[in-house]
Amino acid sequence: MSQKLALNGGAKAVTKAFPHFPEWDQAERDAVLKVVDSGKWWMYAYTPGELAGEDQLNESLVSQVELAEREFSKLHKVKHTLAVTNGSMALDICMRAIGLKAGDEVITTPYTFFATSSCILNTNAWPVYVDIDPETYNLDPRKIEEAITPRTRAILPVHFAGELCDMDAINAIARKHNLVVIEDAAQAQGVCLEGERYAGSLSLAGTFSLQASKCLNSGEGGLITTNDDQFAEILWSLRHCGRKRKGLWYEHERIGWNARMNELTAALLRPQMRKLEGQNQRRMANVSYFFSELKKIPGLTPIKLHPKATKRNHYLVMIRYNAAAWDGLPRKLLIDALTAEGVPFGSGYTFTNFENPAFNDPSLYSDDSPLMIGRTKPVNYREFIDRCPVAVRACREEALWLTHNLFLGDKSHVDMILEAIRKVKANVGSLLAAAR
Ligand SMILES: Cc1ncc(COP(=O)(O)O)c(C=O)c1O
Repeated sequence: MSQKLALNGGAKAVTKAFPHFPEWDQAERDAVLKVVDSGKWWMYAYTPGELAGEDQLNESLVSQVELAEREFSKLHKVKHTLAVTNGSMALDICMRAIGLKAGDEVITTPYTFFATSSCILNTNAWPVYVDIDPETYNLDPRKIEEAITPRTRAILPVHFAGELCDMDAINAIARKHNLVVIEDAAQAQGVCLEGERYAGSLSLAGTFSLQASKCLNSGEGGLITTNDDQFAEILWSLRHCGRKRKGLWYEHERIGWNARMNELTAALLRPQMRKLEGQNQRRMANVSYFFSELKKIPGLTPIKLHPKATKRNHYLVMIRYNAAAWDGLPRKLLIDALTAEGVPFGSGYTFTNFENPAFNDPSLYSDDSPLMIGRTKPVNYREFIDRCPVAVRACREEALWLTHNLFLGDKSHVDMILEAIRKVKANVGSLLAAAR
């Protein structure tokens, strides 16, 4: 097979459209319209029913936000869920809630969206990066202990691409060094380990994003989960302008934010939540087939999945590219050729979090920087290039991303992706020749 590449004017390997995401129907339309017509557009248009048990709950008297929170708690088998404005705010709230002090350090991954780093910096603490595991692209627990200093207070792992981190190993290190663990589960809705141990319930608290690209999405939005009653109270207060439960409306016991989700967002989220499990099952079947076929193609290695996960969402379908097995074809050329065939491959993050220009701001490191409180030396972000070679390689040359909607169809959609890959592989010579 060496038909002419689409990049060179040939016919595309993809002959029909991939599924669109989000999927919605009358349930979403009805839910949103009902809120509009109620005239109750924020959660405090209702008296909180939060202390009522399921059996006493009259749905028409309870806010959509509170119902969404209850439903997500059930879905993720967790005691408390708090709905907020977005996943970044969920992280900001958690970093404040764990009581970070200026100058503290939080260990995290360099291979993530910048909100995982900015939430730490927003509390005047320093993100300290630990490299990712070369097979999973998640924080490598074997490298955490060497990054711990007397200023380390917490670990913030990310379940990247929706794949769970090795939380048993991370929690064991945290216990040994008396550190708090918060999971950035922005990408891990509906994902669990054996025993229905869900993302967001594997540490003190988990944060989720409901932004449009996510597997569970309400356009924008975020959730925080925890099994800890006391911590839930702090989160509740921070999300609600620092108020106190049963306190006066204008009484603020701490400095928080108005980070409440609005009723329209929650109404849209609830029917989406009911669709999540079915969508995840479809993706699991399709990705399992895709990976079993992909293993036959040299130079394209599927990311290693958590061996004990029983439910996955495949938010991103990740492949590690080894150009040597493709005669040195640069990743960009491969992506261009595959995209021309109709499969929108991406390279994802093209540099790590610590290479972001935000770290070039001299005011972070000046003597009067709040981050310097109680410290003699700043964290040196230039050092992480050498300390995190796996993440650097993933960004610069190795990672290939496919988005989850491509795997929401059936086997024929997966076959088109495979067909495109095989076709490009058969034409590597002509691609390289044209590039010379
Ligand atoms: C790992 C991670 N953390 C945090 C966020 C921030 O979520 P949001 O966009 O809802 O603020 C995202 C969103 O892309 C993410 O992927």
